[in-house]
Amino acid sequence: METKILQKTQIKDAAELIKNGKLVSFPTETVYGLGADATNEQAVKKVYQAKGRPSDNPLIVHVADVETVENYADSLDDKTKKLMNSFWPGPLTIILRIKNDSLPQVVTGGLTTAAFRNPEQLSTTKMISLAGVPIVGPSANTSGKPSPTTAMHVYHDLRGKIDGILDDGQTEYGIESTVLDMSVKKPVILRPGAITQNDIEKVIGKIGSNDAHLSDADIPKAPGMKYRHYAPEAVVKIVNDNWEDVISWINQQNENVGVMATNDVFEKYQWPQNTNLFSLGDNVETASHFLFEGLRKFDNETISNVLVQSFSNDGIGAAYMNRLLKSAGNKYFS
Ligand code: TXA
Ligand code: MG
Repeated sequence: METKILQKTQIKDAAELIKNGKLVSFPTETVYGLGADATNEQAVKKVYQAKGRPSDNPLIVHVADVETVENYADSLDDKTKKLMNSFWPGPLTIILRIKNDSLPQVVTGGLTTAAFRNPEQLSTTKMISLAGVPIVGPSANTSGKPSPTTAMHVYHDLRGKIDGILDDGQTEYGIESTVLDMSVKKPVILRPGAITQNDIEKVIGKIGSNDAHLSDADIPKAPGMKYRHYAPEAVVKIVNDNWEDVISWINQQNENVGVMATNDVFEKYQWPQNTNLFSLGDNVETASHFLFEGLRKFDNETISNVLVQSFSNDGIGAAYMNRLLKSAGNKYFS
């Protein structure tokens, strides 16, 4: 199958493909998604195949407006409405109980809930409106790999397996949306993202603690979070500011070592010749934006060790560390 790269002038063509049960990757403010008509069971099945995704891992339903959600979800309560008013369109995915059989089982993984998201990227909301159906959209990477933040990343993973990629440049945040479960008595964040717990609590008051849900051992409420994730071939380790130790270790290696850190770290030290530096920019926001790109860059090179800067868990730092811990399999450089 030929994978067409579609430009922003070709949104209609992208929508047409979706309508015809084809797979089209689409840009969002977080990462690129892999789109298919959420009401077309056969099309959704192909999404799992293209990604190599386990079938018990449900998909996010992307909509262009709140009204569409009302067709599938049980009636929206006040808190949910408030959240939608405050954060949609934007990087917040909301899990809601759905009307019986309103969505194919392949979308929900057989759950009685579904995840809904109204992305901010205009090219994508236009495509959804033109297609006239909600679209499923897992991140458009091969299952287990870092999520794609450019059309080229998608092309690298899924070329020949999908029909098109709508190219709208680099994504803004670089890390997937916050997933908030509103189907339970005490709402809880299942996956941290750019919309933080604090942001959410300002709108709906105290929510439950998410810690339990982030550990792999727990019964995960977001089934996707239990799988090995964001992992390149290289060994990834997290660095807690002990850069001097890192440098002496690199000096002892007889191959190149990848280092992902902010510019101030790069400028502060004298780096051995066998260091391949990848800049995470200047702060935790830029680091989130570049994290997956850096992991992918080193995945294409003959690098067997990648060392990545840690950040504190504040704000988007919680999302950054959540993804980094997964790609590092919780390993720190020491
Ligand atoms: O930013 C994003 O959310 C991106 C863009 C493309 O929108 N999408 C994305 O999708 O990250 P995906 O499939 O890679 O991650 C969706 C997460 C998974 O961890 C999945 O298990 C969880 O949401 N999820 C989906 N439906 C659920 C449900 N009904 N209950 C609990 N968790 C659910
Ligand atoms: Mg994903």
